[in-house]
Amino acid sequence: MTKKISTPIKRVDAGIKTGGAALYIGDILFEGLLYGKIVRSSRARAKIKGVKVPTLPEGYYYVDAKDIPAEGKNRIEMIKDDWPVFADKEVRFIGETIGLLVGPDRKELNRLRDEVKVEYEDLTPVFTIDEAEAVKGGPIHGDDNVYADYHLKKGDPDAAFANAARVIEDTVSTGYQEHIYMEPQGVVARMEDDGKLGVFFSGQCPFYVRHAVSATMGVPEEQVRVQQAVTGGAFGGKEHYPDVISTPLAVAAKKIGKPIGLFFDRVEDISFTPKRHPSVTRFKTALDADGNVIAMDIDVRLDAGAYESCSMVVLQRAIFSVNSVYNIPNVKIHGRAFATNNVPSDAYRGFGAPQGLFAMEAHMSHIARAIGADELELKRRHLLKQGDVTVTNGRIHEEVKLPEMLARIEEMSGYSKKLKEYTPGSWKGIGLSLFNHGSGFTGNGEQEIIKGVVKMRKRADGIVDLLVSNVEMGQGLQTTFRKIAAMVLRMPVDSVIYNDPNTDMVPDSGPTCASRSIAVVGYLVQEAAKKLKDRWDESDVVEVSHQYQPPEGVVPWDQESLQGDAYPSYGWGVNVIEVEVDPLTYEVTTKGIWAVHDVGVAIDEKVVEGQVDGGIIQALGYGSLEKLESKDGRFQQKTMADYTIPTSMDFPRIKSALVDNPYEFGPFGAKGAGELVFDGAAAAFADAVQMAIDGDIKQIPVTPEYIMEVRENAHS
Ligand code: MTE
Ligand code: MOS
Repeated sequence: MTKKISTPIKRVDAGIKTGGAALYIGDILFEGLLYGKIVRSSRARAKIKGVKVPTLPEGYYYVDAKDIPAEGKNRIEMIKDDWPVFADKEVRFIGETIGLLVGPDRKELNRLRDEVKVEYEDLTPVFTIDEAEAVKGGPIHGDDNVYADYHLKKGDPDAAFANAARVIEDTVSTGYQEHIYMEPQGVVARMEDDGKLGVFFSGQCPFYVRHAVSATMGVPEEQVRVQQAVTGGAFGGKEHYPDVISTPLAVAAKKIGKPIGLFFDRVEDISFTPKRHPSVTRFKTALDADGNVIAMDIDVRLDAGAYESCSMVVLQRAIFSVNSVYNIPNVKIHGRAFATNNVPSDAYRGFGAPQGLFAMEAHMSHIARAIGADELELKRRHLLKQGDVTVTNGRIHEEVKLPEMLARIEEMSGYSKKLKEYTPGSWKGIGLSLFNHGSGFTGNGEQEIIKGVVKMRKRADGIVDLLVSNVEMGQGLQTTFRKIAAMVLRMPVDSVIYNDPNTDMVPDSGPTCASRSIAVVGYLVQEAAKKLKDRWDESDVVEVSHQYQPPEGVVPWDQESLQGDAYPSYGWGVNVIEVEVDPLTYEVTTKGIWAVHDVGVAIDEKVVEGQVDGGIIQALGYGSLEKLESKDGRFQQKTMADYTIPTSMDFPRIKSALVDNPYEFGPFGAKGAGELVFDGAAAAFADAVQMAIDGDIKQIPVTPEYIMEVRENAHS
């Protein structure tokens, strides 16, 4: 055991994953396993007039809304329950589940699925935010198609606008993004010998699945046992969506009495599972005579798709992030998430923050270009500092080390020198972005909704069981959680056992999302380990638990008015990206990538480095390559050949560094890192391209086609 927590150790799950021994959901053998195939809507918005199922061969079954137990309900209980398990009266998007075919042979299931005839009465579908806002064809949701509608105000924006020397208007938009986790969605459900409903799944939140399945089936939560299988990546895509497929599967398992597996192939996964919310953000910004930003009026709109899922929370994070790392004294923000007949949008690494942060960074760069100011100097003048008031009238409690981080990245990248060398339009550019990310659930979510608990048990042989509901999904939790416990207990890492969670065995420490596992649950692990250490000699077997308490000194949160500390602490980051643009083809070659982050203290430097590398490359895909178009409610890209994500050949090696800034209520001083590292790269990339081509970049992905458009508009 090393003395310093950050010193890397060998990743606990490296061996089984690289050696091929890890059992993913599709690898586990279930005796007599049948397969499920979803019968999906082919219409974006329609009434269902009838469903004709062909005569099924022996051993094949058709399951739909009529099979939901009387004590249950045809609703998927997530944050809201607007999404039905099986559509029975109407369909709201192409691909929506209408029924489930079950049987032993997958080819035969495909054939049968094509023979199910659904009779529809088509309604007028809504595919864009503007159409949704205009309530085209009558409302899909409520009476205005708005799932969530929030207003924030800080200072006195009206007075500031009245005194403005200049007002700049701008619109920035971001597109869909598909998760492309390595392992597509997969769930198995079966009736267990003890009468419980067993669910095995690839995903992030075992207790979410338990909750949703028990509500649909109308049984107590304890009657459902959820076991996480080794998960090949998730990125938010397996936060709520496993609820959407485990609920119909549970209905089928109960009806048929055999284990049933639902395993998506890549085409099905890309076509029908949720994506990152597309966004459109409008800014109206007031400047004084010296070019200082004195006020902003911001309108954020998200395409949330056909069902609400967690869109209200994504919208909250988007509007709380849209001022990024800047202290704008007077601000008015309006945010709305709209219902459309597109595939539902849902969680994706960053949860609305990447949209808000990209919009703000792009807008700041547009202001600088419009008034002929030095962009970094303009940003520096407005940087948040400790004690500053946030857009929710909370406070920044920690020391903000951005000046130190800027100095560091300057040293690493030579930013200023290159900025002088490459004049705008020289086809060479360097871009910089600043960003932060609040750790854990928004507002009082941790305290009011999650109330996370962890347990730790010393066995008679001195081995310690770490009992938590959070999952390893590639972000390194198997290593970092054990390290935290082992470090406190002063024992070897392999004497701490942390198994993939099973809801019968572990307490509910909350979901694996919002970069909360280390920042929030990791702290509970540390505190529980301290208790266990104190009570170690009490008896052979000692069990302790620890529950979340809000950190001291925070500004209390009011969920009605969205006022207070949206987050108790933030991770911070700076990215610099250097590019060259081909003047003929407009292809962009990235020449260098630099990153400095403040994640408090790294629990394992190698794990954080892995997160930095993966997060930045994933964000560069978002910013430059990953174009996903929905046309008439159908994604035009269906495979990894037409929806291309970056490979190791597309971008150079990332040079990254960390600054220490220990957080009092994080384990060993750690804050969240998993999403922060995604938040800045798209903006730095766009900023660099903007310089290279001397034209404002107002949307991502920045494809060669879009660059051509900007060039032709700017220089015609
Ligand atoms: N890294 C890998 N390799 N695989 C993933 O699925 N998910 C991201 C991020 N990093 C993800 C990942 C998302 S969406 C979140 S919320 C955080 O990890 C969760 O990290 P935590 O363990 O700190 O909560
Ligand atoms: Mo991450 S989007 O919060 O799972």
